[in-house]
Amino acid sequence: MSAPAPLTALAAPRADRARVLGRMEALSRVGRLANGGLCRLALSDEETEARRMLIGWAQALGCTATLDPAGNLFLRMEGRRPDLAPLLVGSHLDSQPVGGHFDGVLGVVAGLECLELLVEAGGPERPVELVSWCNEEGVRFAPTTMGSAVHAGALPLARALATRDAEGTSLAAALERSAARLRAAGLTLTPRGLGGSYSAFVELHIEQGPVLEREGIAIGVVSDVQGLAQFRLSVAGTAGHAGAVPMAGREDALTRARAVMDRLDACLGALPGLRHTIGRIEVSPGAINTIPARVDFTLDARHPDPEVLARAIACVTAAEAEVTPLIHQAPVPFSPALRGSIAAACDALGLSRREMISGATHDAAQAAALCPAGMIFVPCSGGISHNENEHCPPEAVMNGTDVLAGTVFALAGKDPA
Ligand code: HGY
Ligand code: MN
Ligand code: MN
Repeated sequence: MSAPAPLTALAAPRADRARVLGRMEALSRVGRLANGGLCRLALSDEETEARRMLIGWAQALGCTATLDPAGNLFLRMEGRRPDLAPLLVGSHLDSQPVGGHFDGVLGVVAGLECLELLVEAGGPERPVELVSWCNEEGVRFAPTTMGSAVHAGALPLARALATRDAEGTSLAAALERSAARLRAAGLTLTPRGLGGSYSAFVELHIEQGPVLEREGIAIGVVSDVQGLAQFRLSVAGTAGHAGAVPMAGREDALTRARAVMDRLDACLGALPGLRHTIGRIEVSPGAINTIPARVDFTLDARHPDPEVLARAIACVTAAEAEVTPLIHQAPVPFSPALRGSIAAACDALGLSRREMISGATHDAAQAAALCPAGMIFVPCSGGISHNENEHCPPEAVMNGTDVLAGTVFALAGKDPA
């Protein structure tokens, strides 16, 4: 799939610092935690409020808002050539339960800034759509990048809609509540289908790792997203009285689960470069004086080499537990042409750059199934993310926004070649 020939590449004007930082600040107040972090779970009232703000800003630019059946929100700026496949920019507004104020938000606010700059420059030739993908984090509803996966055809819509959160609320119900609140706020949300023809998708995101900051490099031109496999594992036991049941002969689910985890650590730890994480453990019934009857835990494994990832998957599927696969995504290479457009935008700005693999997955990895996709990384302080201390210095925010704008102007310019 070849990337679109860049339209008449236009030197993008520089982003408006006050407008970009002001919007980042405004969104940071929606779901802010007492510890300064952010909790804005997918389709929560907090994310719905953030969506309301985004739609308001975009509609002031003349954009129209559409919503697909998986909850992905699109804001379309018409081009002078509506016949051309739109350029897609954006990221996500949902966060981790104790997340930061840049993961996802940066790409959405910077994408909005590109629309502002295009209007100031007389409007795009090619239509541009700003997307806020639904449920990128995959925390409230598993798996990660759920909305973009459904939009790209990698995950069945029915499965996504039926997914339930810890309270038993389905994605379908959460989506209905969110859309109803947006319409009750007077916003027009037109339904749209899944998939579509896009000229390209470009996403700006913080690196969420330490490389760019450590090397003092301004921009990461992402070459690939490493492979990912996530699972839920369940181990059963028999509940009993913590005081009355002798140790011998207990069927303690947690004792069994620890043995499973230890064997997984040994098996996965032997795979060079594999990153594996047990991020969530639920013990039930969870009473201080009851022997655990069941343990559910998650496992997340990542590697850029599909062979190594396949060996990791074999470790997990061999575990003495009930294993439920949640997502398996092979490494995703990004469009070389798009990497070239991003690099050219860096060079036009005199910003240092390097190619790099993304340790985290992103919606761009799903969008790559629909169109040429590319990502721009900026450093975050200490490489910290998915943490209330996540921070991206204003200079990096503006560098990333300017590179995204330069790329957008090159791909959606004014006069088609
Ligand atoms: O899981 C991920 O890599 C992403 O941050 N949701
Ligand atoms: Mn993200
Ligand atoms: Mn994230």
